[in-house]
Parts: sequence; structure tokens; C-alpha cells
Amino acid sequence: MDCLQDWPEPVVRVQSLSDSGANTIPGRYVKPPSDRPSSAPCADLSIPVVDLASLAGDGTVDCAAVVQAVSSACRDWGFFQVVNHGVDPGLMRRMRQVWRGFFHLPMEAKQVYANSPKTYEGYGSRLGIQKGAILDWGDYYFLHVLPQSLKSHTKWPALPSTLSRETTDEYGHELIKLCERVMKVLSLGLGLNADFLQKAFGGDDAGACMRVNFYPKCPQPDLTLGLSSHSDPGGITVLLADDRVKGLQVRRGDAWVTVQPVPDSFIINVGDQVQVLSNATYKSVEHRVVVNSEAERLSFAFFYNPKSDLLIGPAPELVTPDRPALYQPMTFDEYRLYIRRKGPRGKSQVESLKAAR
Ligand code: OGA
Ligand code: NI
Repeated sequence: MDCLQDWPEPVVRVQSLSDSGANTIPGRYVKPPSDRPSSAPCADLSIPVVDLASLAGDGTVDCAAVVQAVSSACRDWGFFQVVNHGVDPGLMRRMRQVWRGFFHLPMEAKQVYANSPKTYEGYGSRLGIQKGAILDWGDYYFLHVLPQSLKSHTKWPALPSTLSRETTDEYGHELIKLCERVMKVLSLGLGLNADFLQKAFGGDDAGACMRVNFYPKCPQPDLTLGLSSHSDPGGITVLLADDRVKGLQVRRGDAWVTVQPVPDSFIINVGDQVQVLSNATYKSVEHRVVVNSEAERLSFAFFYNPKSDLLIGPAPELVTPDRPALYQPMTFDEYRLYIRRKGPRGKSQVESLKAAR
């Protein structure tokens, strides 16, 4: 397929820029004033926190209070934080250890895994392939978890230790289980059967991938962003944020809300595919990452997605004469090409799906 063959320019690792000790950032990373961190007010609010303790166990969801809390968070904020989610905090700690270790390997060891825009798998430093684009202050590692046919251990780092792949595998399994449970809660919150979303995602053929984000220290954090404003193109995202360093901001009207890390929690947000399936009952909300000069930041974004060749459109159950279908159906394969070509661009993509009328 067309232009997704290679990066349009030589790849520069943000970590190398940071490590060089320069006290200014290259012009390529300087955002226009309207996109800089201080361009809009920060609201002193927090995203809702939901305790999932009553869901743990056999996967049945019978807790109306959890459904209510999650449903209202997805309608209002598009984001919530979960505690007592059933994933072992020891595993979360090991993931951070292994991946911090990866990003601190010598550059030659990391370059072996350099990615290309064809699949994005591997070690990367930009999203989008537009020549001359203004870049974000972050490196990442992208890998596939599901379907099994796309998961390829050779594209996962074998370093810093023999535990690297094992740990990531174990984490992938646990996160899939968590996503499956959250999908039930989300379905019930729409007034539909518990298996509605999972079925719409292709049942056992749903997809999953992960981006490990590494944001090095930045000498001029007021001029740039670690990750530009975007909504997530996929189904739902489960983020394991840095336990010490904040940076994620969620849009709330014209303001940005900084997410405060809660120990051992995950941050969950609605992606564009769930906004479309729910006919905009649930909101896929813009978010971005700010960086700082004091400390690097590591985060893990786990994306749970529909099977890539299914048409995703508003659920017929949620389309009524009063609330007609808001979006035209599209496959996720086709949908994800937009961010892969253009990079993060607010909510422009899901807006472009709006059905003409
Ligand atoms: C993402 C994302 C937020 C973060 O990877 O899509 O929004 O805190 N990450 O790194
Ligand atoms: Ni995101």
C-alpha cells in the first residue's frame, strides 16, 4: 500500500536529544503557541475513580453500582480510573522494571528493533509520515498482542533480560481479561446484553496491541508536548501510567485536567470505535501528554480493538427516530490508517465519519 513504506526523514531518538544535555529543543519539536501546554486553562478537577472489587472472580457482572459508575464516567468524561481491578501489582511493577530497562539500554541495542510505518511494530519515535511535521517529545515501543497470528515474539525485545518477553506475555493475558470484563460493564451500561460489545468486536477474534511510551526529560517543556492531543482510534484503552510522574491531561470543555496517579491503578478510556458503536452515548475524549525537565516518564497504553476487517457502525439498538445513526460504518483496518499517516490530530478523525444528512 502507498506511502506507508518508510519514514519520510531520518529518525531522531528523543532520548538522544535529551541525553545530549542541550538546553534548548530543536525547532521540529516546538509547537505553535495554541498547542502549547499553557495555551488553555487547567481545571482543578479529577477523573472519576471506580472500585472494581465487586467484579473480581468469575467474570459475571452483577454489580449495578459499578455499571452505573462506569456508564456515567463514559458518558460524561470518557475516562475513569480503576482500583481493585484484579491485576497483580507485582506484575505491574515488573513491567515497569523490564521496560525501563529496555529504554535504558545502549542505543545500538534498541536500534535493532527500529520500526517502520508499515506495521509500527518495534522501537519508534514518531506517529505519522508527513514530511516536515512538528514532532512530539517521546519515543515508544509498539507491539501486537492479539490476534495470535499477528503476535510475533521476534518483534518484541529480548532484552534487558530473558524475562522481558515472558513478563510482557503475562501482562498481555491479564490485560485481555480485564478488558473483557470492562467490555461487559460498558455493554450493560448501554442497556444492552453483557456480551454486546465483545460480539461487535468479533468475539474471540478481537484485537489487542500495546504502546509503551517513554518521555525523556525535556529542557523546554513549555514549548512542546510528549504526545499531541488525540482521541484513541481503537475500542478501549487501559493505561498503566507512571507511578511517580504525572503528565496525562484529559480535555474537559476548553480546559485540561491533569490526571493524578493513584498507586496500583489503571486509567481506562473510551476509544473512537466504542463512541461509534454506542452512537456517541459514550465519548472518546481528547487527551495529551505534557513533559517536564525533572524526570522521565514511562506509560503503557493497552489498546483493545475490534477485529480489523469488521464494519463498525452504530448499534441498531441505539438508533432511533429521535437519535439517528451519527456515523458511517468503517473497518478498523481502514480507520487506523488515518493516525498512522497523519499522526495525532485531536478528534478530527471521528468527526470526519459523521454521516452526511
Ligand atoms: C496513548 C496515550 C498517554 C500517556 O498512548 O494513546 O494517550 O500517558 N498515552 O502516555
Ligand atoms: Ni491516547
